[in-house]
Amino acid sequence: MKRTGEFIPAVLGGVFLLLFVSACSGTKEIGEVPSAAVCGSIVDTKCVSCHYKTRICSALGTKSIRQWETTVTFMIKQGVQLTEDEQNKVVACLSSLSPGSEVVCQ
Ligand code: HEC
Repeated sequence: MKRTGEFIPAVLGGVFLLLFVSACSGTKEIGEVPSAAVCGSIVDTKCVSCHYKTRICSALGTKSIRQWETTVTFMIKQGVQLTEDEQNKVVACLSSLSPGSEVVCQ
């Protein structure tokens, strides 16, 4: 009996340690950067109703992932509808595109 009593807390401890380590690891995980087609379609469908893509184009290469997150959160406050998944994708896209990228600047 004593064995199982110690085993479970040890496993839980291990799981929490893992969560803790992955949550705190320095670089923020935003997952795979989607293809240009996916990036382009989100921008073309979601990001052009209030301003031209030139606004986005001219910001390429000037923001960190975190800054793009802030920008996208701000756009959501302005009223853009994005699912959690689309937010992550668009942040991953925009933070990885180089200035002048045809995905946003064509
Ligand atoms: C509901 C309206 C609206 C939609 C949709 C919208 N934006 Fe904006 N966006 C704004 C407004 C308002 C400003 C101007 C803020 C300012 O002048 O500082 C702006 C400015 C910007 C800027 C320039 C300012 C900066 O922070 O660099 C970028 C980049 C930008 N938007 C990106 C996006 C992206 C990416 C999307 C799609 C996910 C998007 N916007 C969709 C309202 C919107």
